[in-house]
Amino acid sequence: MNRRNFIQKSCATCIGLTGMGFLLQSCSTSLPVFTAQVNKKIMTIPVSKFQELKTNLLLLRNNSLEYDILLVKNNDGYKALSMECTHQSASLTPTTTKIICSAHGSQFDLNGNVIKEPALTPLHQYKTVIQNQSITIFLS
Ligand code: FES
Repeated sequence: MNRRNFIQKSCATCIGLTGMGFLLQSCSTSLPVFTAQVNKKIMTIPVSKFQELKTNLLLLRNNSLEYDILLVKNNDGYKALSMECTHQSASLTPTTTKIICSAHGSQFDLNGNVIKEPALTPLHQYKTVIQNQSITIFLS
């Protein structure tokens, strides 16, 4: 298979998976970013964003926050994880399967647990509550 055929086949596979909603789980490490409003240390995100963007992972961003927040939708509800590495406070990069620190190589699962050191402490998790079709994240 030459380079052109490889690229055409790879793209066709990704396009096919996108149509089935699997792109974020198989081909891409970039997650949808949502700029969320913060008011009195409370962040609110419409539940519909997950369906709208066909994802279980949303990276939440606000200029008043030093670190992004990864909002994970799972069978137990929603989990809001700080993207601050617990080793030496570098910003983390979430993927569809894990969270990576490029500073010294720590890795965390999507529950915030350490899967690769040097970090030893799980990620900070914010309290979340679902109210009126919105996910409320308490930042304090
Ligand atoms: S700051 Fe993340 S591994 Fe060191």
